[in-house]
Amino acid sequence: MTPSKSAVVEAAEPIKKSSISPADPCTIVIFGASGDLSRRKLVPALYGLAAQNCLARRFAIIGFARSPMTDEVFQQSAVESVKKFADANTLREQECKEFAHALAYVSGDYHQADAFEKLKNRLEELDREHKLNGNRLFYLATPPDIYPIIIDQLDKAGLAKNPNGKSWTRVIIEKPYGRDLASARNLNQTVLKAFDESQVYRIDHYLGKDTVQNLLVLRFGNGIFEPLWNRNYVDHVQITAGETLGVEQRAAFYETAGATRDMIQSHVLQLTSLVAMEPPAAFDATAVRNEKIKVLQSIRPFTPESIETEIVRGQYGPGSEPGDSSVLKGYPDEPGVAKNSITETFVAAKLHIDNWRWAGVPFYLRTGKRLPSRITEIAIQFRRAPHLVFRGQDISANALVLNVQPDEGISISFNAKLPGQEMKLKTVTMDFSYQAEFGGGERSAYATLINDCMRGDATLFDRADGVEAAWALVDPILNYFQSNKPKFPNYAAGTWGPHEADELLERDGRHWRTK
Ligand code: BG6
Repeated sequence: MTPSKSAVVEAAEPIKKSSISPADPCTIVIFGASGDLSRRKLVPALYGLAAQNCLARRFAIIGFARSPMTDEVFQQSAVESVKKFADANTLREQECKEFAHALAYVSGDYHQADAFEKLKNRLEELDREHKLNGNRLFYLATPPDIYPIIIDQLDKAGLAKNPNGKSWTRVIIEKPYGRDLASARNLNQTVLKAFDESQVYRIDHYLGKDTVQNLLVLRFGNGIFEPLWNRNYVDHVQITAGETLGVEQRAAFYETAGATRDMIQSHVLQLTSLVAMEPPAAFDATAVRNEKIKVLQSIRPFTPESIETEIVRGQYGPGSEPGDSSVLKGYPDEPGVAKNSITETFVAAKLHIDNWRWAGVPFYLRTGKRLPSRITEIAIQFRRAPHLVFRGQDISANALVLNVQPDEGISISFNAKLPGQEMKLKTVTMDFSYQAEFGGGERSAYATLINDCMRGDATLFDRADGVEAAWALVDPILNYFQSNKPKFPNYAAGTWGPHEADELLERDGRHWRTK
């Protein structure tokens, strides 16, 4: 199959090849290959890895889904996804052609053992044909209720265990990993019956973002920040993960999830763990994950009383984004959403981390859809100077802000003297921008994580106990939400959530940085 020439960008500059040596030859099987995640993120990420020589020269990708499709049709749709969603700097006619040739498709019913026999035969055929050494990576990107079925079928088909002493079999499992503590435990049991924990990679794509990893480098690769990173110097921490998008076409999933399950249990708690963790003994899977889990275990559990005062939920009504007069639908009017839905599209929470480093330092978290800007940032707000010698000046406390997206970077604010005879102060910032320093657009978090998995590095993936600890924190909130019906919608699309979210901080004499 040859992609049409016109659609493939022929960039003048050669593609920047990666400095990392290619992963082992292997076959990657994407379950749910006809779905959105595969189209938008996985296939373009795999193309990016191939184009940058991060995949071994010998690799194969099998798309597996229910809908019947030939290899050629799958290849064609994959090339279309690549052209639409991959980093434009990596698009090349020849690379697209080679990439497409590595793609195959198997259709089948997830419940039928035959389908997995068919998959097994195809895997063996490709193994022989391309000398892939029997290495296999299974990527579960289907709706989550199918995960246990796939895992069971892989086990029964003899595909879960490493095929021989020299090859590896690994499985990446997409979020949501369960929908509460009980279901996450069940899923862990099913998964660990078929696979060994060392084969399991529970993905949270936020951990693949450069700025998120850079948080660890900032903290543990520099000498000047860590001494300040504690209750003696930090007044509070704010983590915002805001989106301008609404629920889009995902109502079927989102109605069963809501912002607490979709964002807090995973991405936002991951960010919290990285901000709050102790230095790990090494940057490896065991040490990092041990420290992250200790943070989750130190977060004060929520009770119905604390939920009432320290958690705010919201759902967007009609409104418009700043600078754009078009009227956006409210959540209940979105396609596929129940008119009387009590699904929250916004959550703000105050967390207490009861340990020596953070006692008395609140962590304010906030996430929502249809907010005024797409911004994910972590702000470390330092205490004010203990004594103000510059009388009559409005001095801000220092803040260190990690911009996770869209303008990846770090900024530190401090006070400086304004030029002139008078002693007048102004808060200024010192900025580090990824774009200015290293160029390029947003890098694919999925590419980073798939590459890590192919190399057997689980540092940026969650462990069984980690997901359970996160669900244990979130479970009481979900139960409370279920049994205490809110009055929704309660914020207009294009605003920063319900006013109670502002009051959550104002009560403590603080305010959200981004408004
Ligand atoms: C996903 C959520 O995990 O993360 C989505 O299911 C959300 O609802 C998305 O939009 C946000 O990811 P990113 O990388 O765009 O911030």
